Amino acid sequence: MRSYKVLTFGCQMNEHDSEKMSGLLAAEGLMKSDTAEDADLIIINTCSIREKAEQKFFSEVGKLKELKAANPGLVIAVSGCIAQQEGRKILRRAPHVDLIFGNQNIKDLPDLIASRTRGNREVRTDFPEAYEHELLPAVRTGTVSSFVNIMFGCDNFCSYCVVPHVRGREKSRRPSDIVAEITTLVAGGCREVTLLGQNVNSYGRGLEGTDACTFPELLEMVDGIDGLERIRFVTSHPKDLSDSLVEAMARLPKVCENIHLPLQSASDSVLAGMNRKYTFASYMEKLGKLRAAMPGITLSTDIIVGFPGETEEDYRMTVDALESIRYDSIFSFKYSERPNTKALKMPGHLPEGVKSARLDHVIDLQNRITEEKNAGCVGKTYEVLVERPDKTGDAGRVSGKTRGGKIVNFAGGVSLVGRLVTVRITEGKKHSLVGEMV
Ligand code: 5AD
Ligand code: SF4
Repeated sequence: MRSYKVLTFGCQMNEHDSEKMSGLLAAEGLMKSDTAEDADLIIINTCSIREKAEQKFFSEVGKLKELKAANPGLVIAVSGCIAQQEGRKILRRAPHVDLIFGNQNIKDLPDLIASRTRGNREVRTDFPEAYEHELLPAVRTGTVSSFVNIMFGCDNFCSYCVVPHVRGREKSRRPSDIVAEITTLVAGGCREVTLLGQNVNSYGRGLEGTDACTFPELLEMVDGIDGLERIRFVTSHPKDLSDSLVEAMARLPKVCENIHLPLQSASDSVLAGMNRKYTFASYMEKLGKLRAAMPGITLSTDIIVGFPGETEEDYRMTVDALESIRYDSIFSFKYSERPNTKALKMPGHLPEGVKSARLDHVIDLQNRITEEKNAGCVGKTYEVLVERPDKTGDAGRVSGKTRGGKIVNFAGGVSLVGRLVTVRITEGKKHSLVGEMV
């Protein structure tokens, strides 16, 4: 076996898990292949957050049938949240799949491949008792901006969400391990980290003795790493967003003035049904504190429409909230039924047509707001961290982000990659800005 290809679906957590798989395979001497057609090993790292993601997976895995027929030696593995959730059932539905491994079994990948060469088709989806969140070597796709896990799993059990079921209980990594990892990344050219966790605001729960550390304290430690320029983090749960986090964000120079704060709904009865443990008023109070401490802060959120029992009036409240908060960007979804979740058995499931109409309206509304916000950036100057040559392949152009997380494309050479530059915005597009260096 000489080469591999990892196909990644879903969130940043999955993207980073794929980087760890690449790291393990590189250590085994395998080369990354550009296409699935050229690979001896294909891993599909899956997402099960919504039904649509699951359907996409089964269509994707179906496409690989022909490759397998043409090359019987090809090994096809399935990892991630669908692997965790469906396990052995995938082998029955897609007999050309060779092995399955779950979210806490990534480190077993070399072992599983060896087992496959001995003729076995293993399924490993247990949550090991002593799941140590050891540092797996990662081959990262970006050098300037990198993902770093600070915790794993989730204990919140929002009633619609499959994550606690497929990623297991919440566990924080030791702060010393996190700082050591980032220090190594910075020595390799990294300038920005995104700290990853399902709920970063509860970071540190369960850490004891010399490891004891809260999220604001962790930010302070990471802020002290020489050579690092910027710190971001996802995801914050509104219920755990503390005054000390707001204070730390405003005070620490490397922490960007940008937060993703999922609202989900602006109706208190829907929020209660979702088990979110905050009210719309308490969410707004926290948003007020963030905006008061950092007047230029950019905001993004997640919205679910069509949760069971959501009335027209509930839905209107969410629309009104989007109009008044004016997020820079949002991710919006129709409620999707997920196995083993509480919401599945709640009364008042809505027809598909109602959910779709609500979602379409939310998307249109936010597109307008995002465009207006981007247009409002024109003429202003921003500090931009240059991440890469422009994706459009336009030679002589580069792409980076403002501290607020907005993508900016402008004329400049590749030597700018990794540097902080000042850019004046000349045009606001739907999902990005265009500018010129000053
Ligand atoms: N249906 C629709 N959206 C969901 N999300 C999570 N579970 C579901 C579901 N069952 C959304 C939430 C969450 C984001 C990552 O995905 O908005 O914040
Ligand atoms: Fe899912 Fe809620 Fe945990 Fe986020 S906080 S991963 S929405 S259960």
